[in-house]
Amino acid sequence: KRVLGIEGTAWNFSAAVFAEDLVCLHSAPYVPPTGGIHPREAAQHHASVASDVIRKALDEAGEKIDAVAFSIGPGLGPSLRIAATTARTLALKLGVPLIGVNHCVAHVEIGRWYTKFADPIVLYASGANTQVLGFLNGKYRIFGETLDIGLGNALDKFARSHNLPHPGGPIIEKMAKDGSYIHLPYTVKGMDLAFSGLMSAAKEATQRGESMEDVCFSFQETAFAMCVEVTERALAHTGKDEVILVGGVGANARLQEMLAKMCEERGAKFMAPPRVYMGDNGAMIAYTGKIMLEAGSTIPIAESVVNPGFRSDQVEVTWRHDAGQ
Ligand code: ATP
Ligand code: FE2
Repeated sequence: KRVLGIEGTAWNFSAAVFAEDLVCLHSAPYVPPTGGIHPREAAQHHASVASDVIRKALDEAGEKIDAVAFSIGPGLGPSLRIAATTARTLALKLGVPLIGVNHCVAHVEIGRWYTKFADPIVLYASGANTQVLGFLNGKYRIFGETLDIGLGNALDKFARSHNLPHPGGPIIEKMAKDGSYIHLPYTVKGMDLAFSGLMSAAKEATQRGESMEDVCFSFQETAFAMCVEVTERALAHTGKDEVILVGGVGANARLQEMLAKMCEERGAKFMAPPRVYMGDNGAMIAYTGKIMLEAGSTIPIAESVVNPGFRSDQVEVTWRHDAGQ
């Protein structure tokens, strides 16, 4: 089966075709001229590039498509609606079924596909989301998550407050290379995380004259240590022995290094997929759409309304038949 996947929850409008392997992937990222992502501008961007991106994907794929998958949520309402409308129109025109894919679960599934890890604990760290997930009794359970903003958003906001362009994550990673440690607040509550206090404290630290290098380094060390702690506890709690890292923040080499070290010490396997599969991309929607199609999880057009607050643990996982540990 060949599935066209359309991603458009936030900053990237991306389309891919997945068959036995990835057939093609085309993306058109929205880069805000100033500030962070404006939901309506992002949607306008998606609307203006949609037909071009999809035409490229269909042309490159050549053969017939068996279904159209799209990210139905979570995400920004206006962006989600553009991707959904595009997907519905295409499904009708091609006369093929429609599949509504949960964006977070798609990050997880493309990670499992790439790493070939059967039943991992997943650290999903992106702009809007930060969650530690694992499959248990037929569902993706969220063992811990951010109580306020996503880690990527915290990094982006801190960068923006210093007039650095969006996205701030990669810039902070570069600046952190020459930094040394200063104390910043570490917030893990039970299995959950919080980043906005850390972000404010980082801003205050530069205001009182600490160097950007030191603050960036310490911001990363603190935030990543929090994520690693919760991931380690999820491993211990479930007895699983594999860890994957997904989401845009996963591109960070220091975060990968810290997770790899924790896993090595515990005798668990660790892997992170390459960058193209980590941030938002159409391949993850096409792949998850394909395994959902094979499990019969299609939806009628009338039931394809977007869900901006769709949580990973609300997804009916029809394509996994193992129980999880
Ligand atoms: P979601 O809807 O899943 O929350 P998203 O729209 O935030 O996704 P992603 O592509 O998954 O999109 O993640 C984008 C985030 O990743 C941005 O906040 C960006 O700063 C961050 N990021 C990208 N590269 C790096 C890096 N090298 N280090 C830290 N953060 C990074
Ligand atoms: Fe994402």
